[in-house]
Amino acid sequence: MEPIRPSVAKEQILCVESSAPACGLVVFGASGDLTKRKLIPALGNLFKRGLLGNGFFCLGCGRKKLSDEDFRKIAAEAIKDIPAKQKADFLNSFYYVSGDYNDKNFYGDIKKRLENLDKKGGKNFGRIFYLSLPPKLYSDVAANMGQAGLNKNGKDFVRLVVEKPFGRDLASATELNDCLSKWFGEEQIYRIDHYLGKETVQNILMFRFANSIFEPIWNRNYIDNVQITIAESIGIESRGGYYDKSGAIRDMFVNHMFSMLSLVAMEPPASFGAEHIRNEKVQLLQSIRPFSLEPWNEDIVKGQYASGSVDGKNAIAYRQEADVEKDSKTETYIAARLFVDNWRWQGVPFYLRTGKRLAKRVTEIAITFKKVPHVMFQSAGIEDLPANILVMKIQPKEGMSLFFEAKRPGPKLCIGTLEMDFNYAEIFGTDTPDAYERLLLDCMVGDQTLFTRIDDVKLAWGLIDKILKNWQQQDTEPFLYPAGSESFAEADALIQKDGRNWRKISEL
Ligand code: BG6
Repeated sequence: MEPIRPSVAKEQILCVESSAPACGLVVFGASGDLTKRKLIPALGNLFKRGLLGNGFFCLGCGRKKLSDEDFRKIAAEAIKDIPAKQKADFLNSFYYVSGDYNDKNFYGDIKKRLENLDKKGGKNFGRIFYLSLPPKLYSDVAANMGQAGLNKNGKDFVRLVVEKPFGRDLASATELNDCLSKWFGEEQIYRIDHYLGKETVQNILMFRFANSIFEPIWNRNYIDNVQITIAESIGIESRGGYYDKSGAIRDMFVNHMFSMLSLVAMEPPASFGAEHIRNEKVQLLQSIRPFSLEPWNEDIVKGQYASGSVDGKNAIAYRQEADVEKDSKTETYIAARLFVDNWRWQGVPFYLRTGKRLAKRVTEIAITFKKVPHVMFQSAGIEDLPANILVMKIQPKEGMSLFFEAKRPGPKLCIGTLEMDFNYAEIFGTDTPDAYERLLLDCMVGDQTLFTRIDDVKLAWGLIDKILKNWQQQDTEPFLYPAGSESFAEADALIQKDGRNWRKISEL
């Protein structure tokens, strides 16, 4: 299949980018991995693009005893490509306070430091507190912050950013939220799902609602099925302790996969405003048919990687990974079929799968349209024609592809599938902002569109809870698949019983 390259009318590109108001980012867990890998590089890029407000500062907080200078060294190592003079200015906006999360004095020290930074900057700064901490600390840290008065800041804003997981089931998510909401209003809480910050995930909304040609066919009359894939070639890396208690359903399915599903299937919101979009996402989750688990669960399959080979290198089995139980039943793969019970989607299956240690890293949403109602080329020996497929490519090659049939030059009737391909990097360059850049900026400007609202979190857990309980009661064993696999028989059976097949990961 030869890809056909599109051209873009560059003069038609409309951009709205707001820079952040004067604010400070307070990171709890500042010496940790997320700060180095994601937060500081994202801040560096926002700084380079001139999007950080005047007087911006980052106050790192953590157990580790570090000085401002030590924290600046950490920051210096984490950022790239900033010219020396600008780099010095940027690094000078980093400060650090150390202490114990259970010690009330720690929060008093943070408050004093923030007041001093306000004095130094000659104004009051809005404050964003980022919990880059083990989730078991969230409730206590939020309560200690509240008791120290850090949840308020006069007329200026205070926002709390919470990393997933938001609980591990409906009950714990509700409990966590009850603790947070004693001190912070919902309008102050920003629950991050980094998938929503990815350019191509955001593009789902633009694609659907900034064009008039797709919406009329975006429904049960024209769409046969939707497949959403998040395949990873990596294993659990050094996160065995966390992962073995979570598994793919909590780590990826209940959040990232449901977010993508909501965007692709929701109704058009009245505006691009946060509440309108979040209302429609919630409405969509409310329409998902609860999984039927009787007499057995034929809509969900869980798998776990055994030893194998990925990218030509040997890979150990999940059960041999550090901090994983030797007889663990935790799933590293999940495949599911679900239905959305509303007028638009009645009867259209959504097939979702995500797994670690698969053949390739690829995330995509594939919309398969219905086949033509009548094949009129039978006299030429053409009995069947493939369906058109529209693929939203989320990563690693971000873009869109449309597969359609066309006449090939040559003998009278020679039909072949062509791929019309749009690749973000080719058109817009490779400098796509990282998800954290978008999300941090949105939090600074107070835009909650890409953050998960509590009713969304609860609905998602409500759907998953039944499955978790069922697995626990039945002590369900995962099916084993060799590391580096495309798929495995039981996952294939889930879709093949409907007369369909998964798209081949290695060919995506
Ligand atoms: C995280 C999960 O939320 O997303 C990880 O905890 C997973 O297990 C990661 O590897 C995948 O993110 P991305 O952006 O690399 O697709």
